[in-house]
Amino acid sequence: MIVVVDFGSQYTQLIARRIRECKVYSEIVSCLVDLSVLDDMNVEGIVLSGGPGSVYEVDTNAYRHIFSGTAPVLGICYGMQLAAQVFGGKVRKTKTREYGLARLTRRLNPLFSGVPRSFNVWMSHGDVVVRVPEGSRVIASTETTPIAALQMGTFHGLQFHPEVRHTQYGQRIIRNFVSKICDARKTWSMRRFVDEEVVRIKKTVGRDRAICAISGGVDSTVAGTIAARALGKNLIGVFVDNGLLRMNEREEVKKSLSAIMNLRVIDARARFLDRLAGINDAEKKRKIIGHEFIRIFEAEARRVRDVKYLVQGTLYPDVIESGKGIGPADVIKSHHNVGGLPKKMHLKIIEPLRMLFKDEVRAIARYLKLPRSFIDRKPFPGPGLAVRIVGVVNPARLEMLRRADQIISEEAHKLKDYRDIWQIFAVLLPLGSVGVMGDKRTYDSVCAIRAVSSDDGMTADWVRLPHDFLNRVARRVVNEVKGINRVVFDITSKPPATIEWE
Ligand code: XMP
Repeated sequence: MIVVVDFGSQYTQLIARRIRECKVYSEIVSCLVDLSVLDDMNVEGIVLSGGPGSVYEVDTNAYRHIFSGTAPVLGICYGMQLAAQVFGGKVRKTKTREYGLARLTRRLNPLFSGVPRSFNVWMSHGDVVVRVPEGSRVIASTETTPIAALQMGTFHGLQFHPEVRHTQYGQRIIRNFVSKICDARKTWSMRRFVDEEVVRIKKTVGRDRAICAISGGVDSTVAGTIAARALGKNLIGVFVDNGLLRMNEREEVKKSLSAIMNLRVIDARARFLDRLAGINDAEKKRKIIGHEFIRIFEAEARRVRDVKYLVQGTLYPDVIESGKGIGPADVIKSHHNVGGLPKKMHLKIIEPLRMLFKDEVRAIARYLKLPRSFIDRKPFPGPGLAVRIVGVVNPARLEMLRRADQIISEEAHKLKDYRDIWQIFAVLLPLGSVGVMGDKRTYDSVCAIRAVSSDDGMTADWVRLPHDFLNRVARRVVNEVKGINRVVFDITSKPPATIEWE
């Protein structure tokens, strides 16, 4: 494997991911642990990540051990400066921080095999190497950074970040290091990932039990499936029907997941709808739903004996956002995507997907042969349809929204670009509108179609849906859903609007 030593860079996981893209297994080790752990790992190469600190402020002797073995080392940014200092070079603060694209000119070196003489690289640093250690040579420079890459035996250092997409040929450089310099074996695969996580979970949980909150989305389904392979009946999946699900959703989740794990489906519809009765305010609705969810989950954790662990489908982007580093089992965090589970539950968390990105998880879902309907699932908010009914939620309005949403979803699946749409759904507005049906005046509700494209949900644009699609959906909704007599199409981006209406 290639070990990435993490010095606190925001890109550490990205480095590991780029190495996995070369089909070579990669693990991350924190720079805070005793690095003699490297001796017990099957290390074929080491990458030192960037980091926010300055190497002249730390005792770099502690890191000498990294260079004592035979494995080649690649230092990126802070990692290169660290090696330079360890071997007697000099690192200094630059007058101005360099941040963004720079034009790099390279010399001949196996690290740059197949890469043009000059290309754009991404820089993000406040320190530079100003004197190289004896026995090393400079292998690339930019106009402002004469020592932009260096080599010393099997050590290579890069001042720029090859792992970010802005760096041209970055992946090629990483591949050169991994295959030409380390000669690492290409053993990484989905199968190996799943097998190793299964072993790891088995070892951690032992004879105890674990529960997993199942939302019906791809992340919790994949995490639960892997845990179920490890623990069998001792993994209890908990799926709560809060009455705010889409049409047939409970049955679909139950049918697909009962075959994979020991699944408990809790019918809490009445309880949620009772608490939501008469509530108009969106944030109040969210709080009530989050609170009820916690109470149900606590009761479940108490009901099942010997439960010590909670399996979560947290992905790498969630880990970065919560500012958490590497670690096997942390005390539960309060901000959870299924509704902020409380600290006092004292469950240890297991997050098998914490190193991965969404597309890697979808690939694992395909490898696990999960149903297509799960793999292609669009994100769905924890508070469900409650935040898609503007204003008061009640069974009649839920039924109307469910039917309209089902029609949109059915038609959307036939669209050529369905996969490129981030979310497409119906929203029920708190408006009455006059209509005429069969010569009779009607006064019914208005429904909006919302469809957005997005990479991460943070920003979004509205999808230019074909007119015949809009026409078909509008006609079907008004004809088939009693209580809706008008359909409108939302054409605002985020910002200034948000994706959900509430
Ligand atoms: P907004 O509406 O903020 O949505 O543009 C961004 C993304 O987050 C989802 N969303 C939620 N997810 N609990 C969730 O788990 C929530 O309360 C919630 N509100 C919005 C939304 O569907 C979109 O993908």
